[in-house]
Amino acid sequence: MSVVPSTPRAQHTAPGIAAATLDLSKVYGSGDTRVVALDRVSIDFREGEFTAIMGPSGCGKSTLMHCAAGLDSPSSGSVRVGTTELSTLGDRQLTRLRRDRIGFIFQAFNLLPTLTALENITLPLTIAGRRPDQRWLDRVVAMVGLSERLGHRPAQLSGGQQQRVAVARALAAQPAIIFGDEPTGNLDSRAGAEVLGFLRDSVRELGQTVVMVTHDPVAAGYADRVVFLSDGRLVDEMTAPTPDRVLDLMKSLDSRSHTC
Ligand SMILES: Nc1ncnc2c1ncn2[C@@H]1O[C@H](COP(=O)(O)OP(=O)(O)OP(=O)(O)O)[C@@H](O)[C@H]1O
Ligand SMILES: [Mg+2]
Repeated sequence: MSVVPSTPRAQHTAPGIAAATLDLSKVYGSGDTRVVALDRVSIDFREGEFTAIMGPSGCGKSTLMHCAAGLDSPSSGSVRVGTTELSTLGDRQLTRLRRDRIGFIFQAFNLLPTLTALENITLPLTIAGRRPDQRWLDRVVAMVGLSERLGHRPAQLSGGQQQRVAVARALAAQPAIIFGDEPTGNLDSRAGAEVLGFLRDSVRELGQTVVMVTHDPVAAGYADRVVFLSDGRLVDEMTAPTPDRVLDLMKSLDSRSHTC
């Protein structure tokens, strides 16, 4: 008797799409506490593209990112990473997909204090039992300017350097897509600009796909496109953004008035 292995059902995804949502809705709570955090959001994240997600506080940016990254489950609609429809995965398969295919950068750097910079960078690979690709690792470490700091522990590094470790950690496993939730939110403008520069370089030089939530029009100016959320819906999109154009659009969206 032949045994057919149970592999995730591959579905159609357009070539060149790193991740996508289709009619994605997320509802929290019920009755009086019911909140529609996402309302039928359909968006493609193209390979090798840097997307910024903007919108007022509470409009669903983090929820969109968490659902797209498989950290939270949709109430309805679908999420695909590459050709994999996340709803077809069991918990262990989902954990593996997040580990192998997705990189994360958070506002709080989330480094382990007892590990050196290098150990933090390679931790996801260590956990996965994968050997780092040394050439790739060297390239990533050089790109974020950490070659001289690899033996330092997080407490011995500045905030900007710690976030660069987090960027290198996200890149180390060569994920299909990197999600950053306000990755420069805790940095001063200079350290923030460095981290944003590295994210942009990872897209331009390494072909990485990056999705970043930000409140900052200057940060959004580093992206290839900006999508705007309001009340859990996608309301606008801009390609080749500049901080001034982003600011103008934010003002015009504000004046169309919405509460989240
Ligand atoms: N676990 C949860 N339980 C209940 N409601 C939630 C939960 N997480 C988020 N929400 C609600 O969903 C909505 C969207 O939240 P989300 O965190 O996605 O907003 P955001 O755009 O990231 O905001 P911010 O810019 O302040 O980070 C908000 O109204 C929030 O209160
Ligand atoms: Mg948020």
